Amino acid sequence: MKLARQELKDLMKHKMMQGGLQEEHAEQTAEILTWAHERGYASHGAVRVEYYTERIAKGGITHDPAITWKQTGPCSGILDGDNGIGYYVATKATEKAIEMAKENGVAVVGMANISHTGSIGYYTEMCAKQGLLAITFCQSDPMAVPYGGTEPYYGTNPISFAAPTADERMVVFDMATTVQAWGKILDKRSQGAEIPSDWAVDEEGSPVTDPHKVNALVPIAGAKGYGLMMMVDIFSGILLGVPFGKHVSSMYADCSKGRELGQMIIVMDPERFCGAEQFMKNMSQSCDELSGMKAAPGFGKVYYPGERAVMRRDKTYEEGGIEVVDEIVDYLKSDQLHFDRYDHKNRFAD
Ligand code: NAI
Repeated sequence: MKLARQELKDLMKHKMMQGGLQEEHAEQTAEILTWAHERGYASHGAVRVEYYTERIAKGGITHDPAITWKQTGPCSGILDGDNGIGYYVATKATEKAIEMAKENGVAVVGMANISHTGSIGYYTEMCAKQGLLAITFCQSDPMAVPYGGTEPYYGTNPISFAAPTADERMVVFDMATTVQAWGKILDKRSQGAEIPSDWAVDEEGSPVTDPHKVNALVPIAGAKGYGLMMMVDIFSGILLGVPFGKHVSSMYADCSKGRELGQMIIVMDPERFCGAEQFMKNMSQSCDELSGMKAAPGFGKVYYPGERAVMRRDKTYEEGGIEVVDEIVDYLKSDQLHFDRYDHKNRFAD
């Protein structure tokens, strides 16, 4: 069913408020979920609301968190989220990083004790909209083997960077460091289909094509993706003093406990490097050159990162609104708080 942006956002916001989340936090969470959903990341959109509402209702997301800022240097600090909803805390931390980067040229802001922050390109895009460059990474539940390993150790640990141009375009790169998200394995299970052999491994660490035999996901590009996952865990976990590696809490382990996740954002003002004007101009030139390149056979065009997400968003509205699965809309419109589906599930709960 297709919904208008505001309708979907309001439904999601009110459901989370029904669970106990305060309005400002619910408003910002719904905004980011809508941002992801309208860009074609349905996996990071409305489908998440039931899980968050269950966690909010059971106390695993603090309703009225004591969010504290600790400035650790002229360009650095940690925002402790007291396990409030990650979307709100990460937005506040990004606002703080933008303010510091505008003042000092660079800002390195850690977020400790937060819950899931969703599609992290939202936060780097916030910075690019202000004429700044940013990179962010965050922890997620352990479900990927280290290269050559047999046990899940790291999460899908995403990385996003964004940069502005001299025009309305923004480069927004945003990816998980696993070949595929767990949701894609579930899709294949429900279709009764096999998975490609480079997506996941079984308990022996051997590649699997049967989605029911998956024990863990694998890093992108073998040892190189493994290194990136580790980087994410060091910068957004070990460095911030929160649980790291396999000690990161599982999304579904216990919905009454805070997740204690970490995230890092680094923001830079191009004015302090080659100068903002030159930077923006060269960014635009770079995008033009990439877009103007002859595409390889089978590719219609060369895109810069984030370009297709904006195209998908525009198409969403040209085609009458955001497509949301009927059952999710029914749930959002109902009085049902949640269906008690996520608590104490294993890490691969569907
Ligand atoms: P993806 O594979 O759809 O895209 C990855 C990147 O590749 C994007 O920046 C996209 O712009 C770029 N891209 C894709 N096709 C392209 C093409 N043809 N030309 C140029 N660039 C192209 O993203 P993925 O890895 O599936 O991640 C989806 C979302 O999940 C992200 O928003 C990510 O932040 C989120 N996520 C969040 C987690 C969390 O714990 N908060 C964990 C894992 C993922």
